[in-house]
Amino acid sequence: MQSSLPSKLHAAIIMDGNGRWAAARGLPRKTGHEAGVKAIRRTVEAAPGLGVGTLTLYAFSCDNWARPKAEVEALMRLLRHYLSREVARLVRNGVRLTVIGRRDRLPGGLAAAIGRAEEETAAGRELHLRIAIDYSAREAILSAAARIAGPEDLTREGFSRLVTGDADLRAVDLLIRTSGEQRLSDFLLWESAYAELYFTDRLWPDFGADDLAAALGTFRRRERRFGGLPAPAAAA
Ligand code: FPP
Repeated sequence: MQSSLPSKLHAAIIMDGNGRWAAARGLPRKTGHEAGVKAIRRTVEAAPGLGVGTLTLYAFSCDNWARPKAEVEALMRLLRHYLSREVARLVRNGVRLTVIGRRDRLPGGLAAAIGRAEEETAAGRELHLRIAIDYSAREAILSAAARIAGPEDLTREGFSRLVTGDADLRAVDLLIRTSGEQRLSDFLLWESAYAELYFTDRLWPDFGADDLAAALGTFRRRERRFGGLPAPAAAA
């Protein structure tokens, strides 16, 4: 059984509410996404000090292609800028960046920028930051199923390796969604089998270190049983 107080936990965040944050100020949606990038910076910088070893952020889902072309383009531009301009800061902070999701549909230059950012940050040991771009958990599971090569892949550990592409990846401990919505939206379905769920009304652009600390405080007060019994009952 995993420890109930993991020292280096895996937190995942569905960053929601950029559009509403902008609308409340009479600003275009893309300004909300720009403010969302600042919230990412605050959150990434606070995470290691709060005991987070892996942080997975949902930036763009396979279903987000259905948004208006101008918004998709603005998001792709922001992603490209983040991946190129943020790298030096990530390296300075010991952050290793990897991207999950499909790369074959990304617009020109983005896949290459991802590859460069992954290479340049590969030595980071303070935090593993994973950004989900053109990501669908159901697609990740289907694609893993299509790659099953033998019985060793049909164990929980073996199949996890196929789904995540990472033999060392810890399952999600805490899954946060901002903006008051309470759904999973095709995010990390396999990895979140025993994740604690935390929903906050805070809109993503307003999210910061205090909100992450509050989520982790709630998480640490929860009893994680992984299908077992509470400690005294188990001992009886
Ligand atoms: C949800 O807000 C947010 C997104 C779909 C995208 C998240 C993207 C960013 C924070 C910026 C780009 C990311 C990186 C990694 C540089 P919404 O648009 O669904 O808001 P709404 O529900 O209020 O309309």
